[in-house]
Amino acid sequence: MRTHYCNGIHESLIGQTVTLCGWAQRRRDHGGVIFIDLRDREGLVQVVADPDQVDAFAAANECRSEFVLQVEGVLRARPAGTENPHMPSGKVELAAARISILNRSEPVPFPLDEEDIAENLRLKYRYLDLRRPEMLNRLRLRHQVTRFVRSYLDAAGFIDVETPVLTRSTPEGARDYLVPSRTQPGHFFALPQSPQLFKQLLMVAGLDRYYQITKCFRDEDLRADRQPEFTQIDIEASFVDEEAVMGIAEPMIRGLFAEVLGVQLPDPFPRMTYADSMHRFGVDRPDLRNPLELTDLTDLMGEVDFKVFREAAARPRGRVACLRIPGGAQLSRAQIDVYTQFAAIYGAKGLAWIKVNALDQGNEGLQSPIVKFLPENVLREILRRCGAAAGDILFFGADTAKIVNEALGNLRNRLATDLGLLTGEWCPVWITDFPMFDYDDKEDRWTSTHHPFTAPQTEHLETLSQDPGNALARAYDLVLNGNEVGGGSIRIHQETMQEKVFAALGIAAEEARDKFGFLLDALHYGAPPHGGLAFGLDRLVMLLCGAETIRDVIAFPKTQKAGCLLTEAPGTVADKQLQELGIRLRPGIGADVQNP
Ligand code: AMO
Ligand code: AMP
Repeated sequence: MRTHYCNGIHESLIGQTVTLCGWAQRRRDHGGVIFIDLRDREGLVQVVADPDQVDAFAAANECRSEFVLQVEGVLRARPAGTENPHMPSGKVELAAARISILNRSEPVPFPLDEEDIAENLRLKYRYLDLRRPEMLNRLRLRHQVTRFVRSYLDAAGFIDVETPVLTRSTPEGARDYLVPSRTQPGHFFALPQSPQLFKQLLMVAGLDRYYQITKCFRDEDLRADRQPEFTQIDIEASFVDEEAVMGIAEPMIRGLFAEVLGVQLPDPFPRMTYADSMHRFGVDRPDLRNPLELTDLTDLMGEVDFKVFREAAARPRGRVACLRIPGGAQLSRAQIDVYTQFAAIYGAKGLAWIKVNALDQGNEGLQSPIVKFLPENVLREILRRCGAAAGDILFFGADTAKIVNEALGNLRNRLATDLGLLTGEWCPVWITDFPMFDYDDKEDRWTSTHHPFTAPQTEHLETLSQDPGNALARAYDLVLNGNEVGGGSIRIHQETMQEKVFAALGIAAEEARDKFGFLLDALHYGAPPHGGLAFGLDRLVMLLCGAETIRDVIAFPKTQKAGCLLTEAPGTVADKQLQELGIRLRPGIGADVQNP
């Protein structure tokens, strides 16, 4: 039906007859002549309908926004002075000899060439939203990424294997999406939170190198970088250690950035231990474009008068730290109040501060609500440790390490954005030496930091049971500009070790058997040492194209409420379907539940 895409149209074709197919982006009636901007996947071409082409002119006259057209005509140069330098085809126009209206369109609910369209409207009419070049180009970039990844992994000997979507609950830590079984009433499949256990089984099966670009499902609280249904680039290999896994993954990411953006990422990527990252940045996914750092002060506060600091320093997992903002003494009281409220979101009970007006005037040079509670020598040591200079402000956190880290870690990001402190474009970093376990205060038990199949570092075997909080894992994450883009570990391949870890997690033998019996069985039959990692494809693409949410790089994403505005999923189902599944809804639940 066509001879060219719109991006194939340029001066070299002047005088030739071409046929284009696409949508009428805009139609302008210039009294006697009608102009139509014809859009296809690849670009725009200006079509001109002159009244002497009677049929074409009549069709152009009838045409409205988003009508589907086939246009045949001779390409000609635009009259001098009417060229459009912003359009690749801006020097030419198509003089329509024939215009066929292939389909009509109702007036569209939003103008496709406008910015700032309400997201709900875009999601409801996603097929229109995706017509916009910005969105189309994001999908195209996503395709480039998966194509690159596939060819890279193929060349490295990885075999693409599909794993089941209807499966058992996997222990990735989020809530499962469940699917009821009709053939076994009362039983449920879980959608995979990741192919973790299957890829380990594939290693036992001798696949040696596996990958899959696959959907994962997690019913968790959604944020800008999280979707309930997202895609992983999932990788596993046998006879590898941490270096080998990072040695496969790192060049892949470097190659990807070179190919897609023409950006040279550092070689090698810097590495940082989890402990260092928490200490210096308060988070395990530091944005290294941000020059601000925390300074630890816990050891200084044992004796001070200021009760908040003294008590935080005395508690078992307590921390007192400060964040120095160069030049921050200019912040007003109102701005400090805003940051205090911001820190409170993360549980901080206050945000003490010191403005350093001068360094050489003793306490006279310091402006602060807390200076009077801190002895001279402690104050001097604080200023020395964080390298304070005149004009700085120091913000303090004192609480459990968890709260201080979250509050100051997030404040660090916020301040860098507000004050425009970010430098450099791309800062990848591997975070290594994660703890094996996190303490869950709510449930009062240890949980896996990564997942329970992660191998401990050999020197930490004893610690596993005696001091789980200090056991380190053979796990690593790749962080890019403050985003966790991937993570993985070396796995446990021996049953005795797996049992030890389950024991440390308080998972009883029977429970382990019930949940992961198939994996434990597989470990009996010659499981090779193995490990791997998974990248979040959506997050990578989001970063690569500078999108602000991962919804913008997913063709049909879910809302913050985990619903789809286009299909109105999730929906209610007929009683008959529920009956077949042996399910009855609790009173008050069901038909009346509103879609998001
Ligand atoms: P993990 O749980 O760290 O590891 O997930 C791997 C990567 O997937 C991305 N990701 C998400 N992206 C969008 N929405 C979500 N809800 C979401 N959750 C995770 C992140 C993350 O780094 N089985 C292990 C991998 C392994 O050990 O090999 C796993 O799933 O970018
Ligand atoms: P107060 O003595 O409670 O008025 O607090 C004095 C200063 O300490 C105020 O600036 C508070 O914001 C700050 N502050 C109170 N609790 C904390 C805390 N847990 N961490 C950091 N600063 C705090």
